[in-house]
Amino acid sequence: MDSQVAVPISSHLGLEWRDLNSLIRRASSLGERLAENYRSWIRQNSERTEFWRIQLRIVLEPNPPKTKFQRHNMNEKPPRVTVKTLQSMKRKGQRISMLTAYDYPTAKMLDEAKVDCILVGDSLGMVVQGKTTTIPVTLEEMIYHGEMVARATDRAMVIVDLPFPVGQLSISHTVESAANIMKRTQCQAVKMEGGHQQAAAIRALVDAGIPTIAHIGLRPQSVHALGGYRVQRDADQLMTDAKAAEQSGAFAVLIECVPPDLAKLATEQLSVPTIGIGAGPHCDGQVLVTNDMLGWNSGYVPKFVRRYADLRSEAAKAAMQFCEDVQKGTFPSAEESFGG
Ligand code: KIV
Repeated sequence: MDSQVAVPISSHLGLEWRDLNSLIRRASSLGERLAENYRSWIRQNSERTEFWRIQLRIVLEPNPPKTKFQRHNMNEKPPRVTVKTLQSMKRKGQRISMLTAYDYPTAKMLDEAKVDCILVGDSLGMVVQGKTTTIPVTLEEMIYHGEMVARATDRAMVIVDLPFPVGQLSISHTVESAANIMKRTQCQAVKMEGGHQQAAAIRALVDAGIPTIAHIGLRPQSVHALGGYRVQRDADQLMTDAKAAEQSGAFAVLIECVPPDLAKLATEQLSVPTIGIGAGPHCDGQVLVTNDMLGWNSGYVPKFVRRYADLRSEAAKAAMQFCEDVQKGTFPSAEESFGG
């Protein structure tokens, strides 16, 4: 580094030239390319001393805190949300966000929006396939959609549902199916409907190194046994399921369609995070079906959904406009055509 550049910078930083010189020697010892980066940055940005200060910290501190500047420079991916992240969020009282995705572009958008967890729910049976329940969804379909979603994400924890009746068969079948999902989708966790009755299966999954979230309250795979999609009001049942799931090693508990005071009780009594849907505001996190909250669906929308957009109307307008342009012959224009 030449002294004409280093001297003004050292005075700007309130450092002795001698100190700065020794820092630069240490920087250079990290490698000629790094040293050259410093030199060219200093030449081009001598007034941008904030950058220089950050670089000095990188040299001086063995584990300096990551800065936005540094991350951008190194083209680093954001760190993945893990089970530990979610546990620490609960401890700190930070709310966890979770939304569903079933395809690559939606998952990419949600990941870039910094949604903490993306759930490849078996709700895809109703949302994507137009069926009336989640029961017909197969393991292969979950893997097909889970793989696209996991591939689209860098930051979010991707959780794939175990479809009916995977969680209700023998424990070895449950573990084998969940392992298959983990291997072929590269997701980070699975979700299983059930609590107390599925405790042994949850324990076996966790022992196999498969992070598992238990889904209690309204369990859509048991819709016929429950007599429909109804609010679940049995406090003893809910707490038994919640505690059994926690004791079996579930890293979180998803609570669907229960009165807010029950979800509050479970949230207070569990050390693992609770994620609510139709369960009021007291859970550690909230999940919604993305298509419902974007207004990108057909048919029934539950009372607990907040609509953040009306994509269906927007898309319908665009489709009608396209038809009109085609009929009038105004699409494609010369700019939308290849020159001869
Ligand atoms: O399958 C799913 O998408 C779900 C959510 C409704 C929580 O379980």
